[in-house]
Amino acid sequence: MTMTPFKQKIFVAYFDEMPQRIGREIVVDGVKIAVFRLLDDRVKAIGGVCPHTQGPLAEGIVSGEYVYCPLHDFKVSLLDGAVQEPDDGYVATYDTAIDDDKVYIYV
Ligand code: FES
Repeated sequence: MTMTPFKQKIFVAYFDEMPQRIGREIVVDGVKIAVFRLLDDRVKAIGGVCPHTQGPLAEGIVSGEYVYCPLHDFKVSLLDGAVQEPDDGYVATYDTAIDDDKVYIYV
């Protein structure tokens, strides 16, 4: 039997202080995580380091459900972390929650 590891609930920011389409980077146990509020107010969290050459994804341009890496334009899905063709790779994804106007991620 495998146990599901306990996940920490980490406070990111107040929802109203997160502009739409502007990424926010947080670091949890040395791991960079990029958190985004989409135009439809969903909040998504992915690994903050681009798999190409470590670009800061939180500084990328958000379009729809994707972020474009600011260094060389890799297109990364904010839903599943997959780098889109013609490039490839992936970053982690994290569950998010909005409770009482506060944004959290689970790590
Ligand atoms: S570091 Fe992200 S595309 Fe190159």
